This record gives sequence, C-alpha cells and structure tokens, in this order.
Amino acid sequence: MGKDVIIACDFAGKEQTLAFLDKLGSKRPFVKIGMELYYAEGPDIVKTLKQRGHRIFLDLKLHDIPNTVKKSMAVLKNLGVDMVNVHAAGAKSMMEGAREGLGHDALLIAVTQLTSTSQTVMENEILITRPLEQVVMDYAKLAKDAGLDGVVCSPNEAGAVHAHCGDSFLTVTPGIRFPGGDVGDQVRVTSPAQAKLLGSDYIVVGRPITAAADPVEAYERCINEFCK
Ligand code: C5P
Repeated sequence: MGKDVIIACDFAGKEQTLAFLDKLGSKRPFVKIGMELYYAEGPDIVKTLKQRGHRIFLDLKLHDIPNTVKKSMAVLKNLGVDMVNVHAAGAKSMMEGAREGLGHDALLIAVTQLTSTSQTVMENEILITRPLEQVVMDYAKLAKDAGLDGVVCSPNEAGAVHAHCGDSFLTVTPGIRFPGGDVGDQVRVTSPAQAKLLGSDYIVVGRPITAAADPVEAYERCINEFCK
C-alpha cells in the first residue's frame, strides 16, 4: 500500500490539465483533482482522466451531516475514484456515513487540521484550545475508529500517526518541496527524500512538478527519491 507520488492537478480547467498531462508522455501518474478543477468541469473530468489510465484522488473534503455525506459518497463511488476525503471535524458518525456510502472500493482519508491553520487561529477562531499536534493525533485516532484508511497530514506527523494508529493507516502528505526550491504559500516543507525517511505513504506534489521547466524530470526525481 502506498509509496507513490500524487500530482496535484491544480488547474482551472480540462484544457490546461490535459496540456500538462500530455507533457508526461506515456506516464500515467496518480493525480489529485481538487475543488477548483472539479467545480469547473464536473464529474466528466474524473471520467476523462480515468479513461486515460490515471488513478485519482478526488480532494473535495466533504463536511456535512452524516446522511448527506453518506449519499454524496455513494455518488462519488460511481465515478470510480481511487481515493477521496472528508474533514475529521465532521465527527465520527459523519465519517462512518462516508465509509458506508463509499464502501471499500476507494481509499477514504480524513483531513485533520488544514496546514493553513495555525495554533493561534485554531484557538481564537475555531475555538479548540489544545495543542495542534495533539488535535491532529486525536482526529487521526477518531478517523481510524470510524473505519477510515488514513489521514492527510504533514510528513512531520507521519511517524506519530503510524505509532498511534498502526503502520497500515495511511499518511498522505502535501507540503513537498525540493531543497532550495520555491516554497510558495507552504510553511513547513519537506523534500521527497525526507518524506520517505519520515514514513509518509503518499506524497502530494503540485507546483514543484506542475510549474517545473521539465515536469517529467521533476516527477521522476520525486519517484526516485520517495519510492525507490
Ligand atoms: O503546489 P503544492 O505542492 O503546494 O500543492 C499541494 C497540494 O496539496 C494542493 O492541492 C493543496 O491544496 C493540497 N493540500 C495542502 N495541505 C493540506 C491539504 C491539501 O497543501 N493540508
């Protein structure tokens, strides 16, 4: 399970996405479709990329009442996605509903705390006053209890998540940069090689590949550093 590179296809539409994927020639990487692309193109973009032979992480971060999430997951299941996610903050019954609706055809993971959320924001605006790392870990345990397959987290948290939830509980980790590369809006960044050492199961990589002068070289570098 795992040890793969997921390319975040953060593009505004199908045309830009296919133009990027064409640059990869015959390679068919695992790709992430986020809200921007999905809301622009709808379910067709999932079907198009599936038909091209890509595995798909549909990153829609569902968060609603259990019944709504359950029924929505049943719809997403029919798209044939390989990985999909919810917010752990929706609580256990919502995550159980998600699992029920999705079944076991796809991996189901939970966002614990967004990496854009700081301790201060969590305390003052989300009104959770405990240490952020502890909240991430307790949400991971809740996700596991609800029958989910793993969490989205920082590579720095991968080891602790595995220690608390078991080695087979997946850690899907964004915030990846090559040493010396442009950090952009990410705060705590990790290289593909460091993510491997820290025990991540999947790395999610966007701009270091999509904005690279040579995306094939950048993708292969991620594969070589992280998977081999
Ligand atoms: O371009 P970059 O490598 O920063 O892209 C990272 C991807 O991972 C983006 O699609 C971003 O939305 C996603 N992500 C993240 N941090 C999270 C959850 C998702 O960066 N906590």
